[in-house]
Amino acid sequence: MALPSRVKIVEVGPRDGLQNEAQIIPAAVKIALIDRLSAAGLKVVESGSFVSPKWVMQMADTAEVLAGISKKPGTVYPVLVPNLKGLEGALAAGVMEIAVFGAASESFSQRNINCSIAESLERFRPVVETALQNDIRVRGYISCVLGCPYEGEIAPEAVASVARSLFAMGCYEVSLGDTIGTGTPGKAGAMLRIVASDIPMDKLAVHFHDTYGQALANIYAALEEGVSVIDSSVAGLGGCPYAKGASGNVATEDVVYMLNGLGIDTGIDLDALVETAFFISDALGRPPASKVAKAIAAKKAS
Ligand code: HMG
Ligand code: MG
Repeated sequence: MALPSRVKIVEVGPRDGLQNEAQIIPAAVKIALIDRLSAAGLKVVESGSFVSPKWVMQMADTAEVLAGISKKPGTVYPVLVPNLKGLEGALAAGVMEIAVFGAASESFSQRNINCSIAESLERFRPVVETALQNDIRVRGYISCVLGCPYEGEIAPEAVASVARSLFAMGCYEVSLGDTIGTGTPGKAGAMLRIVASDIPMDKLAVHFHDTYGQALANIYAALEEGVSVIDSSVAGLGGCPYAKGASGNVATEDVVYMLNGLGIDTGIDLDALVETAFFISDALGRPPASKVAKAIAAKKAS
């Protein structure tokens, strides 16, 4: 299949990237990060989550962060919401979009949100319904689509089943997460074809982590299947608090560089993005995980 001419990038760094950091990151740093990302041309910047602070302390200041950012017209700032209590927080903060997050693995569902897959879907139903009644768009995530840290291999049919439920519930898009980054291109393509037998491919997004260095190859395989929405994280920030050993999300700079090379439009300024990668990496006291960020910085310095 011909590759798409345009791709939407969903920047998840301020949420998926930072949620795993042990050190306290001041709200001012998160706000500056989000503003730099929107200024670099990212139209979707996931900005936090309304989850239990007992589970993920790092996101406890999401309301403060949302209140502090300079909202750019045409840019959306979604947040994760696991239940009705989280939705209350999101509504009070005036968000335009939320995401509910399930899993294709029972064990991961228990560790991440303390309930079974079936219970999670029942919990999401009133969240999605209430959000839609309030004109808030809802995205659905599925974790562990190509492997689980507790169960190993995951059947694509298990992914397809959760995706069907989320889509039928009213999620406008379902993001398929290779949470631990064990996927490879052949398996990613096969999984996508099975999920897309029930849901249009243009309603699917891919969310790869780069633990085994397969993320870009997997994204290319997804583009060949017709996917045109890619989640990524500036500087390759990330991991998952409930997936030990999982490394960061694929770096947004690496994805944009590859897409530029393929002639696929993203509307993102790569230089500004690389500067943002260094901004947040400096704040965290380590270099960016992204090869593209390092290469562009080295070229500029030479
Ligand atoms: P629980 O302990 O079963 O919930 O957790 P509970 O209802 O018994 O509540 C426990 C306490 O949390 C109570 O407080 C609640 O009020 C409070 P207490 O009475 O003890 O003082 N609480 C909340 N506080 C604020 N906001 C809320 C909220 N809900 C309850 N929304 C729960 C269940 C779902 C709440 C919990 O497990 C949770 O918050 N989990 C979130 C975990 C998380 O954020 N994981 C990371 C995101 S998923 C991910 O990264 C993967 C993804 O990126 C895709 C990929 O990479 O593949 C999406
Ligand atoms: Mg992730």
